[in-house]
Amino acid sequence: MKKIIIALDGYSSCGKSSTAKRVAAQLGYAFIDTGAMYRAVSLYLYENQIDYTHAEAVEQALANIQISFQFNEERGASDVYLNGVNVESEIRKMYISQLVSQVSSIASVRKAMVAQQQEMGKQKGIVMDGRDIGTKVFPEAELKIFMTADPVIRAERRRLELLQKGDDVPLAEILENLQQRDLQDSTRAESPLVQADDAILLDTSYMTLDEQVAFVVNHHHAIVEKLG
Ligand code: DC
Repeated sequence: MKKIIIALDGYSSCGKSSTAKRVAAQLGYAFIDTGAMYRAVSLYLYENQIDYTHAEAVEQALANIQISFQFNEERGASDVYLNGVNVESEIRKMYISQLVSQVSSIASVRKAMVAQQQEMGKQKGIVMDGRDIGTKVFPEAELKIFMTADPVIRAERRRLELLQKGDDVPLAEILENLQQRDLQDSTRAESPLVQADDAILLDTSYMTLDEQVAFVVNHHHAIVEKLG
């Protein structure tokens, strides 16, 4: 079977990663959560007290940042590693969510991450989720999906996710963070979050995860069949 690139872009907490993870498992594709990479960079800057507004310091820091993914059998997905340390759970915390939009809008950070992502997708057979995968990282991706959902529904989903990890964050705070990030991600100068002209819109507000997965998998099969 011919392998393709699936680009899953969209707003924060629309279910991109959960969908991408399941689609990848069904298709036997690799899954890369590019948000995790920007989160790992943010964690590095935070831990090393590097001022993200200081361009030179950020560039220097990037030279010392190694990001990799390693499959975690228990979770059925890859965990992200920062310089050899598993940071999968740390990068999901609120203090990183509050920092990551600023960090991901820095040109040098994007350049470094995009180069790594392009390398990861060279062999195709990959599902990559993020904000600029269909527009910037893989403009030639055979399947592009742009995900959106009602902000309140997204915040409720995120709250549940955090609660399951023992992090009890008020709904209003999550909603505020989501909307803030959406605004920053969509209005930044570097690779803003926009729907690619050839992306298919998927509103997940009233869809189950199974339905979202089926939507992407069905489109995948139709494309692969056409490619022959
Ligand atoms: O998907 P996420 O919420 O984990 O992403 C964290 C942040 O990283 C998000 O606010 C925007 C940024 N991001 C980006 O700019 N480009 C990507 N390809 C992925 C994420």
